[in-house]
Amino acid sequence: MRATDFSIKEKYRYQCGFDSYLESEAAPGALPVGQNSPQKPPLGLYAEKLSGTAFTAPRHENKQTWLYRILPSCSHPNFEELPAESTPESLTGGKLHYIPNQLRWDPFDHASSKATDFVSGLHHLAGAGDPTLKQGLGIYIYAAAKSMNEHSAFYSSDGDLLIVPQEGALDIRTEFGWLLVRPMEICVIPRGVRYQVRLADENQPARGYALELFQGHFLLPELGPIGSNGLANARDFQAPAACFSEDCGTTGFDGATSYTVTAKFNNTLFTTHQPHTPFDVVAWHGNYYPYKYDLGRFNTIGSISYDHPDPSIFTVLTAPSDHVGTAIADFVIFPPRWLVGEDTFRPPWYHRNTMSEFMGLIQGGYDAKKGGSGGFIPGGASLHNVMSGHGPDAESYEGARNAELKPAKVGDGSCAFMFESCLMVGVTEWGLNRCQKVQEGYSEHSWGGVKVHWVKRGEGSRGHLLE
Ligand SMILES: [Fe+2]
Repeated sequence: MRATDFSIKEKYRYQCGFDSYLESEAAPGALPVGQNSPQKPPLGLYAEKLSGTAFTAPRHENKQTWLYRILPSCSHPNFEELPAESTPESLTGGKLHYIPNQLRWDPFDHASSKATDFVSGLHHLAGAGDPTLKQGLGIYIYAAAKSMNEHSAFYSSDGDLLIVPQEGALDIRTEFGWLLVRPMEICVIPRGVRYQVRLADENQPARGYALELFQGHFLLPELGPIGSNGLANARDFQAPAACFSEDCGTTGFDGATSYTVTAKFNNTLFTTHQPHTPFDVVAWHGNYYPYKYDLGRFNTIGSISYDHPDPSIFTVLTAPSDHVGTAIADFVIFPPRWLVGEDTFRPPWYHRNTMSEFMGLIQGGYDAKKGGSGGFIPGGASLHNVMSGHGPDAESYEGARNAELKPAKVGDGSCAFMFESCLMVGVTEWGLNRCQKVQEGYSEHSWGGVKVHWVKRGEGSRGHLLE
């Protein structure tokens, strides 16, 4: 079946739950009862296990799914490395630059060519670590002007991909079923899962951000004294229901050109061509699956007395390192919220952080930075690396310092987000130079004009302002 042959009802039958054990069958009786691998699985399907952790990972970490499919996914000719001229130059990104300056980018360009799809429009912007060691992360910008080919699929052996659409809804076909992911929603495609990114509207190009996690998997953050509910609630995560095509093609690899599967393997692209569709999973059960989440469902929590808590209170998903409480990657959002703190500087305070902070803006404005030309604008980004000082720009600081402290709603119609990592993040050659979006003078514009408010020593307790 062609992608367009599926009805909305068939495509978007979601199951709910984060890290739940789910099951789904698109044909009655496709799931074996009481065992995973019968001698002859029902309906003549093949049983195939997809492991998201080592077999022996402890129970609370163990992730796996059993797929029941028409043909096993190993049935393909050898992968061939894509020739250099066909590999998006920006995917590998080139040398990483580690620099202490604050960085900000103007909105990244939409795809310059109508021929660009999600894979060819994936740009490696920044990162740390190494996928071969399963350590670290990659930060990407994507821009797509068309759907991936109907007969193509992509997967990454490098990590789990968190996608944050900024413009244009994505209609993502996965082995597990379909996910419609609009701006203000996110999705996570686990390592190894094959998928095809389509544009929900072919006339609406797509642009957004992505983070690839080379180690571990995203979890919901601990809630501590907050209790059993709050922040992102488990029931609001949605997983696809099984939905398959029956195109098994011919047997054997001769002339096997019907379906192209592209693999990202150590930041290098490889392709193979097989005669059968990769989207032939009739049923599945397990806890390793792609999922989406609507950021509008985030239960935002903050201070109702004074000061505001650390921004970790806005964590949607966290990918822990081996050190408890320290994340390889946190996905944090700054949603609309009420500020009521008394005698409080309400915007984010000035700080230097042992973590690195990459920020993007999905829509609207951000309360600590001005928008407009040369500002922090939807589709743009900023990076405040390890110990690089940052905080509100001078104008925002003065405004907040003199604001009347009545209850105020901030961020209406807006959503900024942050990828925060314990690792020092390098910026690729594309990110620093080739994309041509780095704002000159970001630091000077933001903080060159901060005023001195200090009360001179000896000039009396009532103070004498220098301004
Ligand atoms: Fe910060």
